[in-house]
Amino acid sequence: MTKPEGNASSSPGFRGVQAWPTMFFLRPWANHAAHRDAIIAFLRGLQARQERPVASGVAEGMKSPRGLHEGTFDLLRQPHESLTHLSRFIEETVAAAASIANGNEVPPDDLIVSIKDSWYHITNEAGFHDAHHHHGCSWCGIYYLEIGESGRQPGGGAPNGGSRFYCPFLTGGQYVDYGNRYLKGSLDMPLENGLLLLFPSYLLHSGLPYRGAQDRIVIAFNSQVHVRAGTAAAARLGER
Ligand SMILES: [Fe+2]
Repeated sequence: MTKPEGNASSSPGFRGVQAWPTMFFLRPWANHAAHRDAIIAFLRGLQARQERPVASGVAEGMKSPRGLHEGTFDLLRQPHESLTHLSRFIEETVAAAASIANGNEVPPDDLIVSIKDSWYHITNEAGFHDAHHHHGCSWCGIYYLEIGESGRQPGGGAPNGGSRFYCPFLTGGQYVDYGNRYLKGSLDMPLENGLLLLFPSYLLHSGLPYRGAQDRIVIAFNSQVHVRAGTAAAARLGER
């Protein structure tokens, strides 16, 4: 006579294997108040000198034809003291995030972060950036300089000026029940002045339409992360 099946979760050999986890990282910048005004003044200067709203001309079909100003992709390489401080904060945070995402296999100090592209968005009048990916990078981020009236509204609906991320697993089956509740289709991330948000480059995301008395101002970037040459970790992993 066979034994009753019993409790699966405590039965010998029963275990789960987690694969392809997605991680976000959020970190407030403690020096936001000290640098905010200087950075915004610098961005306003760039905005005033731009000949067109989307200076790069990249992916204009995905961006609202009005209400969105985007600079060129070299913002964090500009010689500006406050931007240099922000760059260091971003690089340090990406290194810590990449270390954690890889199970603390390599300490953050042994990682080199290169910010390949960086740009600003100044948004109002329902300006938006439709769903897109970032390319040529492993970790991407958004730094919220001024969120204005972004966020959930009393009447409900999509958050004003929200940063919305879409589950990467929804290209397969379309069936939804409690079993896959954790794969909820989209996620609206917290919005705070001075907050740095990091996300992996494979995630489809969008900047939802924004409208408010104050402009919404963010800095976005793409980064690459490599193990520092000459370290024990580099020798172990064969990383160049
Ligand atoms: Fe983006």
